[in-house]
Amino acid sequence: MSSSIEFSHGKRFVRAAAAPSDTTEAHRSALKPQQSAYAIEFENVSKAFGAHRVLVDLDLQVQPGEKVTLIGPSGSGKTTVLRLAMTLEKPTVGDIKVFGESILYGTVGRPLPRSQEARIRRRCGMVFQQFNLFPHLTVLQNLMLAPTTVLGQSKEHAEKSSFEYLRMVGLESKVHAYPAQLSGGQQQRIAIARALILKPEILLLDEITSALDPELAGEVLDVVRSVAHETKVTLLIVTHEMRFAREVSDRIVVFDAGRVIEQGPPDKIFTNPESDRTRAFLQSVLNH
Ligand SMILES: Nc1ncnc2c1ncn2[C@@H]1O[C@H](COP(=O)(O)OP(=O)(O)O)[C@@H](O)[C@H]1O
Ligand SMILES: [Mg+2]
Repeated sequence: MSSSIEFSHGKRFVRAAAAPSDTTEAHRSALKPQQSAYAIEFENVSKAFGAHRVLVDLDLQVQPGEKVTLIGPSGSGKTTVLRLAMTLEKPTVGDIKVFGESILYGTVGRPLPRSQEARIRRRCGMVFQQFNLFPHLTVLQNLMLAPTTVLGQSKEHAEKSSFEYLRMVGLESKVHAYPAQLSGGQQQRIAIARALILKPEILLLDEITSALDPELAGEVLDVVRSVAHETKVTLLIVTHEMRFAREVSDRIVVFDAGRVIEQGPPDKIFTNPESDRTRAFLQSVLNH
C-alpha cells in the first residue's frame, strides 16, 4: 500500500501510493513522516523583511545531540535562523522540521493548529543576549513560572526541579534574590536554568555572553560546557567566542550575507578554511 521514498539527503518518508477518497486515521498516519533522523532541518528556507533578503536558500540539518555553532559577520542572518527555529519568525519560502514535523504546515500541508504548534515549539528552548528575566519575580518565581503555567506542573514539582536546575548552574543560594540583585553572569545562568527546566530537546543560544564583561562570560560558558558535555540536548549556538566554539562544537557553520558559505568540523574551519571570506571573518574576530 505504501512506498518508501528516499530523498537525496537520506531521509525516509512513508507515503500512501495513491490518495484515497476517505481520510481514515490509518491513511492520515501513513502521510506522517517517520521519526526524522534530524533534530532540526531547514529545507530551502529564505526569509525577507520587505525587499531585504536576510536568508537565502538555507538547507541545514542538525542531528539529535549535535552541537552546532553558527558564526559570521553581524547582519549575516544568524539570529534569524534561531528565531525561525523558535517560530518567532516565519520563513518567506521553505519549510522547517523539528524531529521530522513541520513547524509551519503540519504533516498534511495545512497550517498547524495552535495546540500542535505549541507542542512542537516546546521541544525548543532559547536563551538571548539580554537575559529577559522577569524583574519583579524572584529567581525561584522566574524558574517556576513556565513549568506551572505552560506545563501545568504542581507547585511542589516545579519548586523541586527549580532547585535541581539552580544547583546545576551553581546558584542555589540565590533562590530568593531578584534579578537586579544578581550580576549579569548570574542572571544569564538563571536564564539558562529557566530554559532547561522545560527540558527542551533543542537549545538555541544567541550570543548569550555578548552583553557580559569578559570575566563574567567565563562562568556562563562553563555552564554551557557542562550542558554540552553532560546532556543529550541538541545545541544551536551563535557566539563570537571562537575558542569556546572550537572546543564545544561538533560543527561550525559560517554565514555571510544570508548564505552558508562553508561548514565543517571546528579544527578544519579554524585552521584551514576554504573560503577567503571565512578567513577574513576569523581574522577580524580573533584580532579584535
Ligand atoms: N524584524 C526585522 N525587520 C527588518 N529587518 C530585520 C529584522 N530582523 C533582522 N533584520 C535584518 O536582517 C539581517 C540579518 O539579521 P540577523 O539575523 O539579526 O543577523 P545576525 O544575527 O547574523 O547579526 C540584518 O540586516 C537585520 O537588520
Ligand atoms: Mg544576531
